[in-house]
Amino acid sequence: MKTQVAIIGAGPSGLLLGQLLHNAGIATVVLERQTPEYVLGRIRAGILESGTVSLLREAGVSRRMDAEGLVHHGVEFLFDGVRIPVPLSELTEGKSVMVYGQTEVTRDLMEARASSGATIIYGVSNVQLHDMKTDKPAVTFEKDGEACRLECDFIAGCDGFHGVSRQAIPKSVLREYESVWPFGWLGLLADTPPVNPELIYAHHERGFVLCSQRSLTRSRYYLQVPLTDNVEAWSDERFWQELKCRLPSELANKLVTGHSLEKSIAPLRSYVVEPMQYGRLFLVGDAAHIVPPTGAKGLNLAASDVNYLWRILCQFYHHGREDLLASYSSFALNRVWKGERFSWFMTHLLHDFHDKSPFDRKMQEADRRYYLGSRAGLTTIAENYVGLPYETVR
Ligand code: APR
Ligand code: PHB
Repeated sequence: MKTQVAIIGAGPSGLLLGQLLHNAGIATVVLERQTPEYVLGRIRAGILESGTVSLLREAGVSRRMDAEGLVHHGVEFLFDGVRIPVPLSELTEGKSVMVYGQTEVTRDLMEARASSGATIIYGVSNVQLHDMKTDKPAVTFEKDGEACRLECDFIAGCDGFHGVSRQAIPKSVLREYESVWPFGWLGLLADTPPVNPELIYAHHERGFVLCSQRSLTRSRYYLQVPLTDNVEAWSDERFWQELKCRLPSELANKLVTGHSLEKSIAPLRSYVVEPMQYGRLFLVGDAAHIVPPTGAKGLNLAASDVNYLWRILCQFYHHGREDLLASYSSFALNRVWKGERFSWFMTHLLHDFHDKSPFDRKMQEADRRYYLGSRAGLTTIAENYVGLPYETVR
């Protein structure tokens, strides 16, 4: 089998890259180890930066997002019972974010792939990467017990944090940067109207709370919990009780509770690998970096990588710009580190750290007062939240 770009992984990174390349007349094959149902069963964040929204439109997969997604012009913070609105659009010359779940983005991309007729193979195993340092790399894999070989010009490693692509790069050429956070997020999804029109990021002495949403009738809430907690110990009733306890009474009284559609605990990790390329292998999205979910940058950073790689590959195939290939990692990492910084900052600002010294607690408090008490501070938060601009590839 032969293609131009072999894409490993059919999460949002692999599917979006595949769609943009296909539209540009560049042949791709997507290899995914799971079934489509399994991929769609993963519940992830639901906030799209304005750049991600534009890229989905450019890929021609925005019909449902534009019809059903909710444009949010603001977000709220809540500290010590005081609500602080952050008027995103006012502070960022009209930019906004879109509330549209990652599951829906993935579903739209899967449908677009299917109707484009471009190849996508689910249920592959034993994926191995070969000859990345040559200009004829290859991927071998098994499908239904049969050994297959895919020859290509480039490999895009879009296979998430636990994928094989990053591991195929010799350890000696990679630098890994990692910080594991000392708590997790317990998330609950329910078909109940959101407690507030805007998302609320709240700090409370019992721990952080996020009141998010997927639509006007579906809510997503998160509670900071110890890493030792087990989801079985959290009945729906206990979850709602704890959530009410961490919200001021005007919100707690408005909260509509209901049966959970999903409930899980996620650990929080910050991670970046450098460089994000090795010969003709490019790492994209979670394969190269992970952020804690505070600020919802995971999917948006994946889209940012896709934006750069897609443009660089188009320049290569359409204009012979071989020189740009080596610049992918630095374009991508420049924005990745800013996203890591913002997620790190938001996580520090909002969570309760049991082991913080009294001095560090005072610093956290001062940060909150400064950032949320000045227009400059709020503008910094707003411009990062709606998404920093992409650099031009030329
Ligand atoms: N072979 C083929 N496919 C693989 C392999 C493998 N060896 N290993 C992993 N995969 C697949 C996974 O099954 C998954 O469907 O790669 C896909 C990776 O998808 P994601 O983990 O969603 O990563 P990515 O597409 O980069 O999306 C980034 O999604 O994970 C969230 O928080 C993250 O929001 C961010 C965004
Ligand atoms: C979500 O809706 O799942 C969500 C929203 C914002 C975040 C994280 C998660 O910062």
